[in-house]
Amino acid sequence: MVRVNTLPMRLLALHYGADVVYSEEIVAKALAASERVENAELGTTDWLTDNGKGGQKVRLRIAAARESKQLVLQLGAGDAVNALAAAQHVADRVAAVDLNMGCPMAFSTSCGMGAALLRTPDVACDILQTLRRNLSVPITCKIRLLPSVAETVELARRLEACGVTAVAVHCREVHHRQYEPALWSEMVPIVDTLNIPVVANGDCFAYEDFAAIREATGAHSVMTARGALWNASIFRPEGLADLEGEVLPRYASLCAEWGDYPNNTKHVMIDMRAAGKKGRVRGPWGGDRDAWHQREQPQDAPCAAPSTDPVCDRE
Ligand SMILES: Cc1cc2nc3c(=O)[nH]c(=O)nc-3n(C[C@H](O)[C@H](O)[C@H](O)COP(=O)(O)O)c2cc1C
Repeated sequence: MVRVNTLPMRLLALHYGADVVYSEEIVAKALAASERVENAELGTTDWLTDNGKGGQKVRLRIAAARESKQLVLQLGAGDAVNALAAAQHVADRVAAVDLNMGCPMAFSTSCGMGAALLRTPDVACDILQTLRRNLSVPITCKIRLLPSVAETVELARRLEACGVTAVAVHCREVHHRQYEPALWSEMVPIVDTLNIPVVANGDCFAYEDFAAIREATGAHSVMTARGALWNASIFRPEGLADLEGEVLPRYASLCAEWGDYPNNTKHVMIDMRAAGKKGRVRGPWGGDRDAWHQREQPQDAPCAAPSTDPVCDRE
């Protein structure tokens, strides 16, 4: 998650039992041009980019000893050259590299990245095959549903043929809002068709949902985004830890320990708190397109579009 999945949030999720954590989506061109430095004080590797004010900002910070074996670098890329340069800059510090093919935000799609790749599968395949040929770490990608099941299955097949190790599917189409249900049932034909692990994403808001979504979809594993943002202890089998009393203070302390930017820390903490007030939202229509359209009570939007720094790497 952009802004959210910096080092402190990743360590928080690992502390509570996440098996795998992703970096936020990082624009490949910016990452490729960044300066890589070993931060002796923190024991981290940092990738620094121009902050536009004559200084530098940390674009990516990895604490290799604490997270590398479980960390996926997620790239926003619209071409293979930048994707490869960025990935090669970081690959020895991560367990896998993922290509974001689902981000609907203009900063991403206007540069041919994110969800734009759903419409340009040749470009996506070129990026994935280039990464596969040149890197020894596993390559994965994250897509969204296309308008029909057949189209999604066909795309997933093409991606598998590129040699990716796994495909994550956000069970919504690009135009769907976060408060519309994740269409778990549409995962089933994808899982049935592919021979590689498929990761189901969408509307996992409680520990029990991990098993329920696997059961409903047949997916190999389940990814949660907002569930972890709202309370990162979602990964604990024993249930959620108290947000105010435990999770927020632990997050704040990790942010201080690992030098997160205060503005970022504040932004994420506000989101964590706000979501607690809105509550988890998933009606009994969860996972079924028809049931959603037949619902009686329209739901209020529980989650605004992800706020991102609009970073376009187009010159
Ligand atoms: C604040 C925010 C930031 C996000 N940033 C990213 C991102 O960087 N990369 C990505 O693949 N998806 C991103 N997403 C989408 C989520 O990964 C996920 O696909 C979506 O929220 C559905 O999952 P959920 O129902 O578990 O929240 C973001 C979502 C939110 C709410």
